[in-house]
Amino acid sequence: MRRVRRDLGQDHRYAHTLRVARFAERLAFKHGENPHRARLAGLFHDLARLWSAERLVEECRRRGMEIDDFERVNPIVLHARLGAELARECYGVEDEAVLSAIRKHTVAAADMSRLDIIVYLADGLEPGRRFPERAHYARVAERDLEQALRELLSSTIRYLDSRGLETAPQTRAAAEAFALPLASVSGRRLESTLLTTARRSPDAPSHDP
Ligand SMILES: [Fe+2]
Ligand SMILES: [Fe+2]
Repeated sequence: MRRVRRDLGQDHRYAHTLRVARFAERLAFKHGENPHRARLAGLFHDLARLWSAERLVEECRRRGMEIDDFERVNPIVLHARLGAELARECYGVEDEAVLSAIRKHTVAAADMSRLDIIVYLADGLEPGRRFPERAHYARVAERDLEQALRELLSSTIRYLDSRGLETAPQTRAAAEAFALPLASVSGRRLESTLLTTARRSPDAPSHDP
């Protein structure tokens, strides 16, 4: 734990990490998933979160990881995929279920296991997040993971739509895969209004990345 705190490099980030780990563990327990795996993914999810854009790109290149167009423009999202690599390299995490949840915690994905969803929700809905619907979504998450995922995606989409922010293709794919009702997306283009986590302001509906 002390090492995680040191590696994160910021007490604020460490406190967030602990809240995510606790909430993920609780959700896993409630929904019959493995609480230990959820807690581990929560603890390690943001290991590379405070790295600079340059360092994120450089560390990905060094490992031969491909960088897609969205990531090139929004390198901060790379902290999720890189976080999984660090969990493996520095903490010996070999459990693919845990690594997958770390990788997908920022932009989600079309194929998400229940553990992936739990960690995504825990990151976006931990009690330190400040947006009006947080407590409501957190209650939904205790009851129905997929419904909470739909609602959180929908809320984020509306937020981004209102600001014309860029979209992560993986998030678009997640919304399509989990059958986000089109009616819940205000306005113009589903295609161009889904989630980006790259340029959120502090009042973003779900979370900073
Ligand atoms: Fe996080
Ligand atoms: Fe993150």
